[in-house]
Order: sequence, then structure tokens, then C-alpha cells
Amino acid sequence: MDYLVNLSTLPQDTKSADAMAKSGVTVRRAIPPELKLIVRWIDEQFGEAWASEATVAMTRQPPTCFIATREGKLVGFSCREASARDFFGPTGVDESLRGLGIGRALLFTSLNDLKALGYAYAIIGDVGPSAFYEKAVGAIPIPDSAPGIYAGMLKS
Ligand SMILES: CC(C)(COP(=O)(O)OP(=O)(O)OC[C@H]1O[C@@H](n2cnc3c(N)ncnc32)[C@H](O)[C@@H]1OP(=O)(O)O)[C@@H](O)C(=O)NCCC(=O)NCCS
Repeated sequence: MDYLVNLSTLPQDTKSADAMAKSGVTVRRAIPPELKLIVRWIDEQFGEAWASEATVAMTRQPPTCFIATREGKLVGFSCREASARDFFGPTGVDESLRGLGIGRALLFTSLNDLKALGYAYAIIGDVGPSAFYEKAVGAIPIPDSAPGIYAGMLKS
């Protein structure tokens, strides 16, 4: 199912700056020379479908892929408008570093990027951990949104 986020009422992200400083994590927009490294990491951690979406996000200018780094290593990513306009995702955080607020920081960064483009709402496509999105940004399910844009996607 797809989820909707109201960007007009998106609260200020007051938590992430402190949380990221405490964990030694930096969240920023990716740059093109990092494309192969990022896509390879996503492929290894999350599979080729997300790696393909991230490739699209990385080849836009400026890239619409944001990354979290720690001690010079990639530890998380989030994309906007990879598979469809106004869509958030995919996103993922290194399994050993989950629960530190990195996913939330990446989510807010991507959603604020969409908001700056003038979108009033953002769509989170084919949501997995719905409780994460409900809690972090008040996302709500979109009725009749399944099957969505990924219907009939080739898997092998
Ligand atoms: C979903 C994901 C990106 C969250 O990243 P994270 O860094 O662990 O999340 P955060 O630490 O920023 O969590 C923010 C809040 O959401 C909560 N939360 C995190 N994951 C959650 C989940 N799966 N279900 C419910 N709540 C969750 C946290 O407890 C935290 O709450 P708090 O603000 O009260 O402390 C990460 O679990 C992940 O990579 N999952 C696998 C890939 C995936 O499913 N991506 C989403 C595809 S739609």
C-alpha cells in the first residue's frame, strides 16, 4: 500500500541534528562520483531493485539520493522521485546502526527536499514498515493504492 504525507504540516525536524551529532553521522545529498559505490552498497544490502531505483536518483542533477555516512563509510540512504514523481523511497539503514535516528533524519531530509520543490503532499510507495512512517511524519495509508506502480514488476 502507498502512504501519504502532508508536507504543509510537516513539523520541524528538531531531533535529527543532535541525534546525528551524537552518533557521529552526517546526512547529505550524494554526489555523482559516489554513484557506483552507493549503488553497489545498496545492491549488497537491499537487492537489485532498490539499487536500480537509486541509480535513477543518482543520475538526476542534482542527485535525488541522500546518504548517511559515519567515519567515512556509507551507513544509510534515501531517495526521492526514483520511480515516480513525488514519491519517497527507497530508503535503508545499515542493520547494525538501526534505531539511532538515521532513518528518520534521511526521511526528513528527502521530504523537505520535495517540499522545497513545491509539493504539498509526498507519497511513500509500497510501504514496508508503516509504523515507522506513521510515527516519524504522520503518514496515512492511501485507500485503494494497492497494487500501485510496482504491479507486475519483473523479479527474475
Ligand atoms: C525503516 C528504517 C529505514 C528505519 O531506520 P532507523 O534508522 O532504524 O529508524 P530511526 O532510528 O530513525 O527510527 C525513528 C523512529 O521510528 C521508530 N522505528 C524505526 N523502525 C521502525 C519500524 N520498523 N517499525 C516501527 N517503528 C520503527 C524508532 O523506534 C524511532 O522511534 P523514536 O523516535 O520514538 O525513537 C530501517 O529499519 C531499515 O533500513 N529497514 C529495512 C529497509 C526498509 O524496510 N526500508 C523502508 C522501505 S518502505
